[in-house]
Amino acid sequence: MIRVGVNGYGVIGRRVADAISLQPDMVLEGIVKVKADYKALVAVKKNYNLYAIDEKSLKSFFEAGLNPKGMLKDLLREVDVIVDASPEGIGAQNNRIYKEFDKKVIFEGGEEHELTGLSFVAQCNFDVAKGKKSLRVVSCNTTALCRVLDALDKAFKIKRARAVIARRAADPDEISKGPIDAVVLDPVNLPSHHGPDVQTVLPHIDIFTMALKVPTTHMHLHSLIISVREKVNEDDVIDVLKGTTRVILVNSKNGIKSTAHIMDFARELGRIRYDLYEVAVWADSIRVVEDEIYFYMGVHQEAIVIPENIDAIRALIGKYSKEESIKLTNKTLGIIQ
Ligand SMILES: NC(=O)c1ccc[n+]([C@@H]2O[C@H](COP(=O)([O-])OP(=O)(O)OC[C@H]3O[C@@H](n4cnc5c(N)ncnc54)[C@H](OP(=O)(O)O)[C@@H]3O)[C@@H](O)[C@H]2O)c1
Repeated sequence: MIRVGVNGYGVIGRRVADAISLQPDMVLEGIVKVKADYKALVAVKKNYNLYAIDEKSLKSFFEAGLNPKGMLKDLLREVDVIVDASPEGIGAQNNRIYKEFDKKVIFEGGEEHELTGLSFVAQCNFDVAKGKKSLRVVSCNTTALCRVLDALDKAFKIKRARAVIARRAADPDEISKGPIDAVVLDPVNLPSHHGPDVQTVLPHIDIFTMALKVPTTHMHLHSLIISVREKVNEDDVIDVLKGTTRVILVNSKNGIKSTAHIMDFARELGRIRYDLYEVAVWADSIRVVEDEIYFYMGVHQEAIVIPENIDAIRALIGKYSKEESIKLTNKTLGIIQ
């Protein structure tokens, strides 16, 4: 069994912890939190071992009757791999203690590529990550772009990719960021960071991205224009995306005309927290004009990187093939394909 700890138990950490506890080859040794809030209480109710980030947190956990097992350093003694799901930039600060304990580490997309020099998307570079000491699972938008671009590039050889991303302004519980009544250029000076971030995984792809923040908390929406070297039609594109893991095709003919409908569809699938781990591409938005492929796709920002974290754990341990790991992760998370 691979012994795993999760440092940071917010949007991503809570989901990674639950996903780890579903894996037949992993054991969740514990989670680390700062505040003694309802999330800590639920973690304890789930029988997850609760660890504090520091002495102050530890004291507050005891005062709240949460019965913590210790602090981060105590958890580090128990694990083979630590997943750092702390807020953007904090992972880099935590790296000192991980190095001190000589642990394998997974960071998230809020950290810089340079922190580990290895940005990870399972289908693109699982084998490169095998047996490595640390890696960064890229952000939600980058993960989605990499899955789709990698598949289309292998099939049709991408000449260039252009994307405009409408980003959710905040996650559902981030009340300090709203209400917002604006479309915010994110950033004004182009490109947005997403294109260069894709190139940390797929360096050969010519990509340029623009992004806007829109007043919603559910999902990002990508508008893509991808020009390719091979001759293609709409059916070719559909066939390739149908055969790509963690990509699903949705259709407005079935009533899915918005990100709200995708989230409602995910609720109907009965997944935990209505999480959609797959990129959702609108099949009936796919158009080919000369050498350019056009389509829309939706990205559930809270969920899409969760299967990548599970595969990343196996990649660092180095005992599984990419295909074995992806298959097992998909099965345990109920991923459609
Ligand atoms: N949210 C997304 O849509 C999304 C998508 C993809 C990737 N990511 C990336 O995933 C990472 C985590 O983001 P998130 O949205 O999950 O953050 P989050 O919801 O704000 O959760 C962060 C967690 O880290 C804990 N924490 C705070 N300070 C810490 C510290 N000094 N050391 C360790 N833990 C600390 C917090 O504890 P308390 O709860 O006790 O305050 C909280 O549990 C970031 O790199 C982010 O860029 C986020």
